[in-house]
Amino acid sequence: MDKLKVIILAAGEGKRMKSKLPKVLHKVQGKTMLGHVIDTARAAGADDICVVIGHGAEQVAQSIKDENVKTAVQSEQLGTGHAVMCAGDFIEDGADMLVLYGDTPLITAGTIGELRDFHKREDNAISIISAVVDDPTGYGHIIRDENGAFLKNVEHKDASETEKIVREINTGIYLFSGGALKKGLSLLKNDNAQGEYYLPDTLEIILKDGGRVNAMIAGDAKEFAGVNNRIQLAEAEAVMRKRINLFHMENGVTMMDPERTYIEAGVKIGQDTVLLPGVVLEGNTVIGEDCVVGPDSRLTDTVLGDRVKFQYSTAISSSVDNDTTVGPYAYIRPDCHIGKNVKIGDFVEVKNSNVGDGTKVSHLTYIGDSDVGERINFGCGTVTVNYDGHKKYRTVIGDDVFIGCNTNLVAPVNVGRGSYIAAGSTITDDIPEDCLAIARERQINKSGWTKK
Ligand code: UD1
Ligand code: CA
Repeated sequence: MDKLKVIILAAGEGKRMKSKLPKVLHKVQGKTMLGHVIDTARAAGADDICVVIGHGAEQVAQSIKDENVKTAVQSEQLGTGHAVMCAGDFIEDGADMLVLYGDTPLITAGTIGELRDFHKREDNAISIISAVVDDPTGYGHIIRDENGAFLKNVEHKDASETEKIVREINTGIYLFSGGALKKGLSLLKNDNAQGEYYLPDTLEIILKDGGRVNAMIAGDAKEFAGVNNRIQLAEAEAVMRKRINLFHMENGVTMMDPERTYIEAGVKIGQDTVLLPGVVLEGNTVIGEDCVVGPDSRLTDTVLGDRVKFQYSTAISSSVDNDTTVGPYAYIRPDCHIGKNVKIGDFVEVKNSNVGDGTKVSHLTYIGDSDVGERINFGCGTVTVNYDGHKKYRTVIGDDVFIGCNTNLVAPVNVGRGSYIAAGSTITDDIPEDCLAIARERQINKSGWTKK
């Protein structure tokens, strides 16, 4: 195969999104539309990628994580053809030049591979992907002669009444032989309804110049849906969501209700894990095997070990080890490491803390900025008092401590291993090992007080 160079057009504003954000930065299943297109180009074997940026150029450039991706600036948006001209230096004579649109995020590497095969097989100068759709409004229409041979693309706004009803449309995915692209661009005009340089006009230009041009008709039109407004964004989400969910189900993950399971593109899930309805898995979340997650749980950049049960709860940027149970209604805030076989029960909040193996935090407890040892029992209503209004302080609790109900641990404070804390204590001083600490008023019973 020839060298594959990819130009991704992402300079448009996307007025119909009605957004402060450049269109291509809107996310589909947690990844920007442009991010999806870049990743797909890579997966299709791109040797080199150049993104044409313009509207919100700085923001769009910053969103690109892959350092090897180049950018070209289109400072005025004069059309898709003009956008490719702005990447003129990137176009190479002998290379296959693939052009993708940043607002068409559902395209797959498999389809790009098919287009390359088609291009080679037909020995084309330009190959595009077309699709037959129910509603061709707004797309470019593919016009063929009476024998079905490709003639040209006509934009909807420029189309005649008979052309407007042609349901074969331009998906916006093109493979050019480098030389043909250069030539086509050099002859492009903007004498059309929008006064723009249309990239698809190069098809007719090269055809008339004697080059071979043809459209490969795609089976499944869904892959090519362009996102121009929030309705189409939601439709793209639904397609991508289904695609991701099918991938995980094929890999041995059970979903009770895939329609209500939201998994972002980068998430990993182990075999025999069960996802109950209302689960949202975001960012770089990794879930082990044999876990049960949900219902109604959200995990962001969180790592769960194996056999973890996590219900009606939220976790952010934390890790939870094997055989631990979380929830219902727990909140694990950033930078927590929860050990093995731990219980984080109902209405428990943990923040920036380590909780050791076998510790039970069964209910109504706040653990913040703390290093908690192993096999500790937290009584109901324990609070680590970590904030004095100015600074945060740490609480350190040794292994095998027993904390009575309604205990305040006023940080900075150390609780020695094996100690007991009496219920209702407000602990302000360090506790040595193996002590019983009592920090509350002794009870007085005044006899006969009621009658008096
Ligand atoms: C385009 C095609 C149409 C095709 C449809 C498929 C043209 C003229 N029309 O129409 O045939 O059916 O896509 O979705 O190409 N862009 C730039 N600079 C510009 C203009 C656009 O970078 O000056 C970028 C946009 O950011 C976007 C992409 O090119 O990512 C497509 O532009 P858009 O205006 O959405 O084209 P459509 O009208 O949808
Ligand atoms: Ca579009």
